[in-house]
Amino acid sequence: MVEIARLTYNEAQNALPELVDLLIDAVEGGASVGFLLPIDHAEIEAYWRKVLDTLDERVLLVAADNGKIVGSVQLAMESRANGIHRAEVQKLLVHSSARRQGLATKLMERVEAAARSENRTLLVLDTAKGHSAEPLYLKLGYTVAGIIPNYAIGPNRDTIDATVVMYKLLNQTSE
Ligand SMILES: CC(C)(COP(=O)(O)OP(=O)(O)OC[C@H]1O[C@@H](n2cnc3c(N)ncnc32)[C@H](O)[C@@H]1OP(=O)(O)O)[C@@H](O)C(=O)NCCC(=O)NCCS
Repeated sequence: MVEIARLTYNEAQNALPELVDLLIDAVEGGASVGFLLPIDHAEIEAYWRKVLDTLDERVLLVAADNGKIVGSVQLAMESRANGIHRAEVQKLLVHSSARRQGLATKLMERVEAAARSENRTLLVLDTAKGHSAEPLYLKLGYTVAGIIPNYAIGPNRDTIDATVVMYKLLNQTSE
């Protein structure tokens, strides 16, 4: 059974090897999530350690299937005074063995609930144009703000891909 949970610092530290594996699985599968091939394990681990060090300003959710992490997503809370109503959805990842079963949808529902409980009413994100997450976010009610060409080098270093910037205004009264 898959359960979604918000990780504390200690829980995230214990889960570090699984989080590293999850991100490596995504990059090896061709996802444009900030890292290039060949995999630099130390770089990926350093990324997660930075996430752990900033858990005071972000929510880290994981999807666990009988205790094994098969998905994650983060909500980075804007801390500047004029943006305390908004947050950025980051690194939505579902393991390649667990896709198309609605896990990303569940993670996004939970991240929106977390945003509401933190009084965040505007969510922003960006995603590689033409990749799998684009139709997912559209289905979940995100609006395209615009497309930035030549935004990120593809994981195989042979393309330079556009990104789609999206947002969603949350209903303040539904949570
Ligand atoms: C994008 C990703 C998170 C989707 O996870 P998932 O658990 O498979 O998504 P869901 O099962 O909740 O999909 C819900 C809907 O989104 C759309 N969708 C999801 N994956 C899709 C794909 N590969 N192609 C087209 N539409 C897709 C479909 O409409 C799907 O509904 P359906 O399965 O009934 O057709 C997953 O493919 C992934 O981790 N990719 C690599 C990392 C990545 O690119 N993350 C996004 C960073 S912005």
